[in-house]
Amino acid sequence: MQPLLKSHIPSLKLINQGKVRDLYDVDEHTMLLVATDRLSAFDVVLPTPIQDKGAILTQIANFWFQKLGHIVPNHLTGIAPESLVRDEAEKAQLGKRAIVVKKLKPLPIEAIVRGYLAGSGWKEYRSSGTVCGIRLPSGLQEASPLPEPIFTPSSKAEVGDHDINITLDQAARLLGKDLAEKVARVSIQLYRTAAEYALTRGIIIADTKFEFGLDEAGQLYLIDEVLTPDSSRFWPANQYVVGRNPPSYDKQYVRDWLEASGWNKTPPGPELPVEVAEKTSEKYREAYQKLTGTAFS
Ligand SMILES: Nc1ncnc2c1ncn2[C@@H]1O[C@H](COP(=O)(O)OP(=O)(O)OP(=O)(O)O)[C@@H](O)[C@H]1O
Ligand SMILES: [Mg+2]
Repeated sequence: MQPLLKSHIPSLKLINQGKVRDLYDVDEHTMLLVATDRLSAFDVVLPTPIQDKGAILTQIANFWFQKLGHIVPNHLTGIAPESLVRDEAEKAQLGKRAIVVKKLKPLPIEAIVRGYLAGSGWKEYRSSGTVCGIRLPSGLQEASPLPEPIFTPSSKAEVGDHDINITLDQAARLLGKDLAEKVARVSIQLYRTAAEYALTRGIIIADTKFEFGLDEAGQLYLIDEVLTPDSSRFWPANQYVVGRNPPSYDKQYVRDWLEASGWNKTPPGPELPVEVAEKTSEKYREAYQKLTGTAFS
């Protein structure tokens, strides 16, 4: 499949362009989600597409939607994307990267679950012994497993801003107490189930971000992407050592190269060298193969 930086589907109305996904209106209740091959690093979308990234992300998410469907309903409709567009040029942009989903009202929080101490969580723990205000036992090291997975929501930032961690009380104020509790409970259950499975495939899911939406009846659905390398921290289990920051699964080459390039991390981002883009594509493939047990084709 041709790499796709930006989709162009004139027979549908473009409603939103995220960092990675282009969203098209289908009808009142349905939309088309096209995962492009865009890659963002340090919250900036880079100009170089990553071969097959969009399709791999979509297929990893579909794999999890199926595996986790007994815990919470999800936004998939089962409608074939090709059935909604007109000509071959449009169909050629869909393939395995597109899904037709229920149009839902996204909750204004990101439902983050952490099972290990990493990233901003590790930083906060080192200075205050807490992660997002949750007190943890003393003596934990970088990459230590937490005694229990914890729910650490953040508020969704406006385009270009970073998300901000919020407390459970703030989440309850945004969503209402009952819904906030349900989201926390479901998120932890999703994480536990997925992390336990992933470990059998040699991947540690250190943390992850879920998004949820509501339908008109107030029913809760899992939306967006789930448990992909873009929304999660995947660590290869065989390289895992407590006390050391394991290599991030997918973006390590890109981040290392960007850090060394002297780029100031504000837009526009630089073009990536071919070998950095190819190695990154290879990591996405590897994540798919490891998780699902079958090669991505
Ligand atoms: N079923 C759905 N109904 C409504 N909105 C959805 C649904 N599934 C996903 N979305 C929204 O579509 C967008 C997906 O685009 P993309 O992942 O590229 O966004 P993004 O730039 O990562 O922004 P965000 O950080 O909010 O995810 C997100 O804003 C997500 O909330
Ligand atoms: Mg997203």
